[in-house]
Amino acid sequence: MFKSLLFFTLVSLSATNALTIGHNDDAYLSRRHNGPGDEVDSRDFSADGSGPEGFQHGHGGRGNRNDTSSASSIPLRSVTTTSTESNTPSASSVIATSKPSKPTSSKGGKSSSASTSSASGKGGKSRTSRLSSTAAPAKPTSLPPGTCTNGVAVKNEACCVLFDIRDEIQEKLFDGGECGEFAHESLRLAFHDAISFSHSIGSAAGGGADGSIIAFSDIELNYIANTDQIDEIVMAQKAIHANFNISEGDFIQYAAAVAVSNCPGAPQLEFKLGRPAATAAAQDNLIPPPFDSADAILERMADAGFSPEEVVALLASHSIGAADFVDPTAPGSPFDSTPGSFDTQLFVEVLLNGTTFPGTANNSGEVASPLKGEIRLQSDFEIARDSRTACTWQSYVNNQQRMMDDFRAAMARLAVIGQNTDDLIDCTEAVPMPKAFKKAAFFPAGLSIKDVDQSCSSQPFPSLKTDNSVKSVAPVNVPSAPSRR
Ligand code: HEM
Repeated sequence: MFKSLLFFTLVSLSATNALTIGHNDDAYLSRRHNGPGDEVDSRDFSADGSGPEGFQHGHGGRGNRNDTSSASSIPLRSVTTTSTESNTPSASSVIATSKPSKPTSSKGGKSSSASTSSASGKGGKSRTSRLSSTAAPAKPTSLPPGTCTNGVAVKNEACCVLFDIRDEIQEKLFDGGECGEFAHESLRLAFHDAISFSHSIGSAAGGGADGSIIAFSDIELNYIANTDQIDEIVMAQKAIHANFNISEGDFIQYAAAVAVSNCPGAPQLEFKLGRPAATAAAQDNLIPPPFDSADAILERMADAGFSPEEVVALLASHSIGAADFVDPTAPGSPFDSTPGSFDTQLFVEVLLNGTTFPGTANNSGEVASPLKGEIRLQSDFEIARDSRTACTWQSYVNNQQRMMDDFRAAMARLAVIGQNTDDLIDCTEAVPMPKAFKKAAFFPAGLSIKDVDQSCSSQPFPSLKTDNSVKSVAPVNVPSAPSRR
């Protein structure tokens, strides 16, 4: 989110190492979240949820844990031509060793060996000349049908290109497989692209999950819900997308699925391949702002095809989120006390009575939260308490499986808004499997059932324990320098 001066300084300082490929957009790829100032909290951040989290400080990405355990366990597949796949190497070692021999995908994606050699050549060539000089190696004839060049067996070979893309984005966007800032932003981007669709307006509104937010970024990044908020992730994805031969719409939704897979507790999202290229920019004012009423949000979402229950399910995404722009004096304020895990804590904490603000009080789109350091969106507050959605909201409290299942189903619909699903190929097998999350939901320190703003009249609030170690939540990202514009 923060287009920091430090970021650009790092780009120029690390020119020999960075994967710069001779284009302005590529500067975004050099961003590194684990910069100086990252701190590792001494408390247990174990991925099984056995310890509290959300205390990631400093200039690192949101949710970064300086913990390679999640990265090393990601089932990254080597993209060498070996026929056996290693399940255990660290993400970085796989990526580093596999690139030189990475073959071009069967769909004609440009091999990342091209970008590697260009990077080592320090930017002498433009992207166009570099790519045009890259011969596309054919798939080795020794591989049986249904086998990608990396040895992975797939139901449809069209999915093979995704393994290359997965490795690129895990390395260049997600710090080797973290549920950090760019992972969160990639999920948000998938929403902002897809929701620009309207049954009432018709095709003039936009093509839904068509990638127009990248293809027409010069237009859509000026829209109120996007400007200065998601331009960094848009430009970073745009630069990587340029190296692969899938549409922007496919790329955005696939990147979101990979991003979510890095967050413990998330479901494995469905992914379908084959969206055609966007033909026009979407209209403005189709992305709901946080100061809208429940009526306005549910109406907008219904116009895009979603029921009130599905809206609640989609808002599980805020369990891994934080806000920089709702209160600019408190950037990186998380929505719950566990922003690095896709858990049900959001559904507990949004229902607690608000008592405090992470920075200045009552910014537009913000209401009081129950925990020091936490920000609460007015929109989440409203949806949690509206009679049409309150019982669905409460039903996710401490019900991880239900939340996962409903989020998966709602995301599957979001990812194909405006698309002809008969033309798409199911490539879910190219989406990594997230780690499980086992910790029970809890009340933060000093809080109990007495602090719940009970909003579902037909069901009692689930019985939860209080975790007295959770007294506050720290920002998960702090801007290191002023915004670029
Ligand atoms: C429906 C009403 C929604 C509203 C009003 C809304 C509003 C917002 C706002 C204001 C922020 C904070 C932006 C900032 O200050 O940095 C945010 C963050 C976020 N939103 Fe939503 N959102 C909605 C739905 C969704 C949906 C459906 C998804 C995904 C499927 C989503 C994913 C996210 C994520 C992951 C973040 C965190 C981004 C980060 O940490 O960088 N949101 N949202």
